[in-house]
Amino acid sequence: MALYDSPKAAFTDMANGTAEDWQIIAKEFGEFAAELPDRIMTHLNLLSGDFGGFPVDRLTHCLQTATFAYRDGKDEEYVVCALLHDIGDTLGSYNHADVAAVLIEPFVSEENHWMIKHHAIFQGYYFFHYLNMDRHMRDAYQDHPYFERTLEFVTKYDSPAFDPKGDTLPLTFFEPMIRKVFAKPVRSLYKPAQEKMHRATVDAVQN
Ligand SMILES: [Fe+2]
Ligand SMILES: [Fe+2]
Repeated sequence: MALYDSPKAAFTDMANGTAEDWQIIAKEFGEFAAELPDRIMTHLNLLSGDFGGFPVDRLTHCLQTATFAYRDGKDEEYVVCALLHDIGDTLGSYNHADVAAVLIEPFVSEENHWMIKHHAIFQGYYFFHYLNMDRHMRDAYQDHPYFERTLEFVTKYDSPAFDPKGDTLPLTFFEPMIRKVFAKPVRSLYKPAQEKMHRATVDAVQN
Protein backbone atom coordinates (compact mmCIF):
# COMPACT_ATOMS: atom_id res chain seq x y z
CA MET A 1 0.00 0.00 0.00
CA ALA A 2 1.33 3.47 -0.92
CA LEU A 3 2.26 5.39 2.22
CA TYR A 4 2.04 9.11 2.86
CA ASP A 5 5.77 9.64 2.31
CA SER A 6 6.04 7.42 -0.80
CA PRO A 7 6.97 9.02 -4.16
CA LYS A 8 4.13 10.97 -5.75
CA ALA A 9 3.32 12.53 -9.12
CA ALA A 10 4.00 16.27 -9.37
CA PHE A 11 0.76 17.26 -11.09
CA THR A 12 -2.30 18.77 -9.45
CA ASP A 13 -4.30 18.45 -12.67
CA MET A 14 -4.05 15.16 -14.58
CA ALA A 15 -4.02 17.17 -17.81
CA ASN A 16 -0.47 18.24 -16.87
CA GLY A 17 0.85 14.74 -16.08
CA THR A 18 4.29 13.73 -17.36
CA ALA A 19 5.95 10.39 -18.21
CA GLU A 20 7.84 10.60 -14.89
CA ASP A 21 4.57 11.09 -13.01
CA TRP A 22 3.10 8.02 -14.66
CA GLN A 23 6.17 5.93 -13.98
CA ILE A 24 5.65 6.61 -10.28
CA ILE A 25 1.94 5.81 -10.50
CA ALA A 26 2.48 2.66 -12.59
CA LYS A 27 4.98 1.31 -10.05
CA GLU A 28 2.56 1.95 -7.19
CA PHE A 29 -0.25 0.40 -9.20
CA GLY A 30 1.75 -2.79 -9.80
CA GLU A 31 2.38 -3.20 -6.08
CA PHE A 32 -1.23 -2.39 -5.17
CA ALA A 33 -2.69 -4.72 -7.82
CA ALA A 34 -0.50 -7.56 -6.55
CA GLU A 35 -2.31 -7.29 -3.21
CA LEU A 36 -5.74 -7.77 -4.80
CA PRO A 37 -6.09 -11.40 -3.61
CA ASP A 38 -5.58 -10.19 -0.02
CA ARG A 39 -8.27 -7.56 -0.43
CA ILE A 40 -10.62 -10.16 -1.92
CA MET A 41 -10.12 -12.38 1.13
CA THR A 42 -10.58 -9.46 3.53
CA HIS A 43 -13.82 -8.61 1.76
CA LEU A 44 -15.02 -12.21 1.82
CA ASN A 45 -14.44 -12.23 5.57
CA LEU A 46 -16.83 -9.26 5.90
CA LEU A 47 -19.59 -11.79 5.11
CA SER A 48 -18.79 -13.71 8.29
CA GLY A 49 -21.49 -13.54 10.95
CA ASP A 50 -23.96 -11.92 8.56
CA PHE A 51 -26.94 -14.28 8.42
CA GLY A 52 -29.63 -12.02 6.93
CA GLY A 53 -32.25 -14.51 8.11
CA PHE A 54 -30.61 -17.46 6.36
CA PRO A 55 -29.65 -20.70 8.19
CA VAL A 56 -25.93 -20.04 7.63
CA ASP A 57 -23.98 -16.79 7.44
CA ARG A 58 -23.04 -15.42 4.04
CA LEU A 59 -19.40 -16.50 4.29
CA THR A 60 -20.40 -20.09 5.10
CA HIS A 61 -22.80 -20.04 2.15
CA CYS A 62 -19.99 -18.90 -0.18
CA LEU A 63 -17.55 -21.47 1.22
CA GLN A 64 -20.14 -24.24 0.95
CA THR A 65 -21.03 -23.31 -2.63
CA ALA A 66 -17.32 -23.45 -3.52
CA THR A 67 -16.87 -26.71 -1.60
CA PHE A 68 -19.71 -28.38 -3.54
CA ALA A 69 -18.23 -27.21 -6.85
CA TYR A 70 -14.77 -28.39 -5.82
CA ARG A 71 -15.99 -31.80 -4.64
CA ASP A 72 -17.84 -32.16 -7.94
CA GLY A 73 -14.56 -31.76 -9.84
CA LYS A 74 -14.93 -28.22 -11.18
CA ASP A 75 -11.70 -26.47 -12.13
CA GLU A 76 -10.04 -23.82 -9.98
CA GLU A 77 -11.40 -20.85 -11.89
CA TYR A 78 -14.96 -22.17 -11.51
CA VAL A 79 -14.44 -22.88 -7.80
CA VAL A 80 -13.17 -19.32 -7.24
CA CYS A 81 -16.22 -17.96 -9.07
CA ALA A 82 -18.43 -20.10 -6.83
CA LEU A 83 -16.61 -18.78 -3.76
CA LEU A 84 -17.03 -15.15 -4.82
CA HIS A 85 -20.54 -15.32 -6.25
CA ASP A 86 -22.09 -13.52 -3.25
CA ILE A 87 -19.14 -11.31 -2.31
CA GLY A 88 -21.22 -8.34 -3.47
CA ASP A 89 -23.76 -8.81 -0.69
CA THR A 90 -22.11 -6.18 1.51
CA LEU A 91 -22.22 -3.29 -0.98
CA GLY A 92 -24.59 -4.45 -3.72
CA SER A 93 -27.78 -4.82 -1.73
CA TYR A 94 -29.83 -4.44 -4.90
CA ASN A 95 -27.35 -5.87 -7.45
CA HIS A 96 -25.02 -8.24 -5.61
CA ALA A 97 -24.51 -10.50 -8.64
CA ASP A 98 -23.30 -7.53 -10.73
CA VAL A 99 -20.76 -6.58 -8.06
CA ALA A 100 -19.27 -10.10 -8.03
CA ALA A 101 -19.30 -10.23 -11.85
CA VAL A 102 -17.40 -6.94 -12.15
CA LEU A 103 -14.73 -8.14 -9.72
CA ILE A 104 -14.05 -11.40 -11.53
CA GLU A 105 -14.51 -10.14 -15.11
CA PRO A 106 -10.83 -9.39 -15.91
CA PHE A 107 -9.70 -12.79 -14.62
CA VAL A 108 -12.18 -15.40 -15.83
CA SER A 109 -13.77 -16.80 -18.98
CA GLU A 110 -16.78 -15.17 -20.58
CA GLU A 111 -19.03 -18.10 -19.59
CA ASN A 112 -18.00 -17.98 -15.93
CA HIS A 113 -18.51 -14.21 -15.88
CA TRP A 114 -21.99 -14.56 -17.42
CA MET A 115 -22.88 -17.33 -14.98
CA ILE A 116 -22.02 -15.22 -11.93
CA LYS A 117 -23.64 -12.08 -13.34
CA HIS A 118 -26.93 -13.92 -13.91
CA HIS A 119 -26.95 -16.31 -10.95
CA ALA A 120 -29.35 -14.13 -8.96
CA ILE A 121 -32.05 -14.35 -11.63
CA PHE A 122 -31.56 -18.12 -11.96
CA GLN A 123 -31.57 -18.59 -8.18
CA GLY A 124 -34.78 -16.55 -8.08
CA TYR A 125 -36.66 -19.61 -9.32
CA TYR A 126 -36.59 -20.84 -5.72
CA PHE A 127 -38.06 -17.72 -4.07
CA PHE A 128 -39.21 -14.95 -6.45
CA HIS A 129 -42.82 -16.21 -6.21
CA TYR A 130 -42.75 -15.62 -2.44
CA LEU A 131 -41.93 -11.97 -3.14
CA ASN A 132 -44.62 -11.39 -5.76
CA MET A 133 -42.08 -11.79 -8.51
CA ASP A 134 -41.90 -14.11 -11.51
CA ARG A 135 -39.95 -17.23 -10.58
CA HIS A 136 -39.61 -18.07 -14.26
CA MET A 137 -37.69 -14.87 -15.05
CA ARG A 138 -34.66 -16.97 -16.03
CA ASP A 139 -36.62 -18.55 -18.87
CA ALA A 140 -35.92 -15.40 -20.88
CA TYR A 141 -32.40 -16.79 -21.28
CA GLN A 142 -33.44 -20.30 -22.30
CA ASP A 143 -31.71 -20.06 -25.67
CA HIS A 144 -28.57 -18.43 -24.31
CA PRO A 145 -25.38 -20.54 -24.73
CA TYR A 146 -24.62 -20.25 -20.99
CA PHE A 147 -28.13 -21.08 -19.74
CA GLU A 148 -27.34 -24.70 -18.84
CA ARG A 149 -24.08 -23.73 -17.16
CA THR A 150 -25.81 -21.18 -14.94
CA LEU A 151 -28.71 -23.54 -14.24
CA GLU A 152 -26.26 -26.19 -13.08
CA PHE A 153 -24.50 -23.66 -10.83
CA VAL A 154 -27.62 -22.65 -8.93
CA THR A 155 -29.12 -26.15 -8.87
CA LYS A 156 -26.09 -28.13 -7.72
CA TYR A 157 -23.97 -25.63 -5.79
CA ASP A 158 -25.69 -22.33 -4.87
CA SER A 159 -29.18 -23.45 -3.87
CA PRO A 160 -28.19 -26.36 -1.55
CA ALA A 161 -25.41 -24.39 0.20
CA PHE A 162 -27.40 -23.28 3.24
CA ASP A 163 -26.76 -26.32 5.43
CA PRO A 164 -25.21 -25.56 8.86
CA LYS A 165 -24.02 -29.19 8.97
CA GLY A 166 -22.97 -29.31 5.33
CA ASP A 167 -19.49 -29.92 3.94
CA THR A 168 -17.69 -26.56 4.19
CA LEU A 169 -13.98 -26.17 3.51
CA PRO A 170 -12.29 -23.16 5.18
CA LEU A 171 -11.20 -20.02 3.32
CA THR A 172 -7.54 -21.04 3.81
CA PHE A 173 -8.21 -24.07 1.60
CA PHE A 174 -9.28 -21.82 -1.27
CA GLU A 175 -6.60 -19.15 -0.74
CA PRO A 176 -4.06 -20.63 -3.24
CA MET A 177 -6.81 -20.81 -5.88
CA ILE A 178 -7.75 -17.16 -5.30
CA ARG A 179 -4.08 -16.15 -5.65
CA LYS A 180 -3.74 -18.13 -8.88
CA VAL A 181 -6.92 -16.85 -10.55
CA PHE A 182 -6.30 -13.21 -9.54
CA ALA A 183 -2.58 -13.29 -10.45
CA LYS A 184 -2.98 -11.88 -13.94
CA PRO A 185 -5.93 -10.43 -15.85
CA VAL A 186 -6.96 -12.12 -19.08
CA ARG A 187 -9.25 -9.23 -20.05
CA SER A 188 -8.58 -5.66 -19.02
CA LEU A 189 -8.31 -2.18 -20.44
CA TYR A 190 -4.84 -2.04 -18.84
CA LYS A 191 -3.61 -5.45 -20.04
CA PRO A 192 -1.17 -4.15 -22.71
CA ALA A 193 0.36 -1.69 -20.21
CA GLN A 194 0.56 -4.41 -17.58
CA GLU A 195 2.36 -6.79 -19.95
CA LYS A 196 4.87 -4.08 -20.87
CA MET A 197 5.58 -3.46 -17.18
CA HIS A 198 5.92 -7.21 -16.59
CA ARG A 199 8.44 -7.51 -19.46
CA ALA A 200 10.44 -4.56 -18.10
CA THR A 201 10.57 -6.22 -14.68
CA VAL A 202 11.74 -9.54 -16.17
CA ASP A 203 14.42 -7.74 -18.21
CA ALA A 204 15.61 -5.87 -15.13
CA VAL A 205 15.90 -9.11 -13.18
CA GLN A 206 17.70 -10.95 -15.99
CA ASN A 207 20.21 -8.17 -16.81
FE1 LIG B 1 -26.47 -14.66 -4.89
FE1 LIG C 1 -25.65 -17.69 -3.23
